Amino acid sequence: MIEKAVAGFEAAFGYEPLGVWSAPGRANLIGEHTDYNEGFVLPFGIDKRTYVALSPREDATCRVSSDIDGKTYETDLTTIPTDIDWALYPLGVAWVIREWAKGGFDAFFVSDVPVGSGLSSSAAIECAIGIALNEIWDAGRTKQEIALLGQKAENQVVGAPTGMMDQTASMLAEADSAVFLDCQSLEAKSIPLNLEPRNLVVAVMDTQVAHRHSDGGYRVRRESCERGAKTMGVSSLRGLSVEDLPRAQSELSDVDFRRVRHIVTENQRVLDSIRALAAGDMKQFGELLLASHDSMAHDFEISIEELDLAVEVAMRTGAVGSRMTGGGFGGAAIAVIDKGLLPALEENCKSAFAAKGYGEPKVFAVVPSEGARKER
Ligand code: GLA
Repeated sequence: MIEKAVAGFEAAFGYEPLGVWSAPGRANLIGEHTDYNEGFVLPFGIDKRTYVALSPREDATCRVSSDIDGKTYETDLTTIPTDIDWALYPLGVAWVIREWAKGGFDAFFVSDVPVGSGLSSSAAIECAIGIALNEIWDAGRTKQEIALLGQKAENQVVGAPTGMMDQTASMLAEADSAVFLDCQSLEAKSIPLNLEPRNLVVAVMDTQVAHRHSDGGYRVRRESCERGAKTMGVSSLRGLSVEDLPRAQSELSDVDFRRVRHIVTENQRVLDSIRALAAGDMKQFGELLLASHDSMAHDFEISIEELDLAVEVAMRTGAVGSRMTGGGFGGAAIAVIDKGLLPALEENCKSAFAAKGYGEPKVFAVVPSEGARKER
């Protein structure tokens, strides 16, 4: 992939890049839609990454190109054109940090993070360019600061009202571990997963149903949460615990109450998961994953039939636990499952999807991997 990025750069711009940087996509183990509610999340970086070959320019021109569509997009950062597809992510980050700019840049991207699968291909682009520009412009920002700038680009330029989980995972991830992030204090801790010694893997079951978070569903969920917090007299849903749910039920509409119940119980499930993982209690961890899926399917209502089916098939195949991952309305589910059962999981998913007339899913294992880094 590094060679491919360099070759792509040379073909697009006609000279050698200064360096190559990369950042991974992420899968979230548990803690969904809790990030923008100042709650807890537990994602990890996956072994699929976006690579950017990049060189600074002395003039103000910023050019980005990729093997996605073979096009080159260009701006001087005084404005950001809107109709530029994937290029909105890297140019959005450059625009957000334009006050550090010491000139422009040329950048070429290659990626093996699946797009639209809920594995944060967009955060991988944002973090790869973020870490590269931080270095060439001598900005001295920490990895966590770069993550928040990536989120800002997503919010302000792309127009998706998302939280900071994806970018934080992509920046701070460590091999064989998940990132436990408190989205209120922004304190992050690496949680060893010890999957390998248990012969377990995290399998992704990508439904191939694409989603976008700049569209309605995500935003409407977020508004429900904000309304719920306001009515309950707290600045964010982090301020509520399971004991507050009876009062929430009496004060909120049925829909808002169920949205709030998902967030409050999901935060608790993340904390319980940390304890289960520390104790090596995979059975309890698996039950928490399933309870999380159930809460997303019924209370938060962000699952789709294909995701529910994937979870059902995973459990039938012998998974420890399974749930949809990411923002929902499409994308992927994960399963924690014995390595030896992976071929059976793939076969069972494919036949169950075919029987329902759904498109063919993609099933593959992901390995918890290191966050954004300079490659050369
Ligand atoms: C998307 C967003 C994240 C987070 C998840 C749901 O991936 O980008 O910020 O809200 O959905 O947990």
